[in-house]
Amino acid sequence: MTDTSPVCRRLVGRTAVVTGAGSGIGLATVRRLAAEGAHVVCADVDEVSGKAAAEEAGGLFVRTDVTDAEEVEALFKAAFDTYGSVDIAFNNAGISPPDDDSILDTGLEAWRRVQEVNLTSVFLCCKAAIPYMRAQGRGSIINTASFVARMGAATSQISYTASKGGVLAMSRELGVQFARDGIRVNALCPGPVNTPLLQELFAKDPERAARRLVHIPVGRFAEPTEIAAAVAFLASDDSSFVNATDFLVDGGIAGAYVTPV
Ligand SMILES: NC(=O)c1ccc[n+]([C@@H]2O[C@H](COP(=O)([O-])OP(=O)(O)OC[C@H]3O[C@@H](n4cnc5c(N)ncnc54)[C@H](O)[C@@H]3O)[C@@H](O)[C@H]2O)c1
Repeated sequence: MTDTSPVCRRLVGRTAVVTGAGSGIGLATVRRLAAEGAHVVCADVDEVSGKAAAEEAGGLFVRTDVTDAEEVEALFKAAFDTYGSVDIAFNNAGISPPDDDSILDTGLEAWRRVQEVNLTSVFLCCKAAIPYMRAQGRGSIINTASFVARMGAATSQISYTASKGGVLAMSRELGVQFARDGIRVNALCPGPVNTPLLQELFAKDPERAARRLVHIPVGRFAEPTEIAAAVAFLASDDSSFVNATDFLVDGGIAGAYVTPV
């Protein structure tokens, strides 16, 4: 695997808000953005892991349930009040619970819970971040969708997939609407990543894991640092003409028909 440790400091003086900062992709991104010089504001519903992430990055922790509009507003206000700008919003918190499964087995409560955490949260975070970015005339929003927003799976998690499709469409629309305000909005579409979210899902069902691995041309899941490197690119001015995309970081899954044996 390639070493993704930063070789540049593209984000010096920028303020980045990261949701789901305590674990997985969020935590790897906190580390990467801090290493590139950003002030990082770490948001998580889990106080212990969120605080630890902020301490490690020399940033700020704001305990936030991303489904709560007032808490989300307070998060972005804390970022602005502490550091004087909101330049990057990585709206990343998400869940993938086992009771979200085939449409035939998934209840309305599970459907709604996943929509709230994965999709409504992104609506709330964008709604809170954009006014700061418009006032500055600059900003990069990265919303975590998934490759499942682009491809169908017979191993369905119906609400998760629908929520990520929503994130993708919303990001595209916002990227178009606010482009002339200097704001870029991209949907990040990771392939399967080796994080607690995925480990929990597959530990219970190894057959499900094997069934998915076979579709990945590179033959392995991504590491969180590889996704964090893509976020840092989208956050930085190196991606100044990248907007309203479904930015795939998937090891080639979405391009594959037959994979290597
Ligand atoms: N792991 C993968 O294979 C994969 C692939 C594609 C997309 N994604 C997406 O990437 C994002 C991060 O996933 P991960 O694998 O790093 O997960 P993770 O479970 O390792 O981390 C998610 C973090 O979000 C936090 N969180 C959950 N609900 C929250 C809430 N209501 N408010 C605030 N924080 C909350 C959790 O406490 C946790 O720290 C998710 O949106 C996920 O859907 C993951």
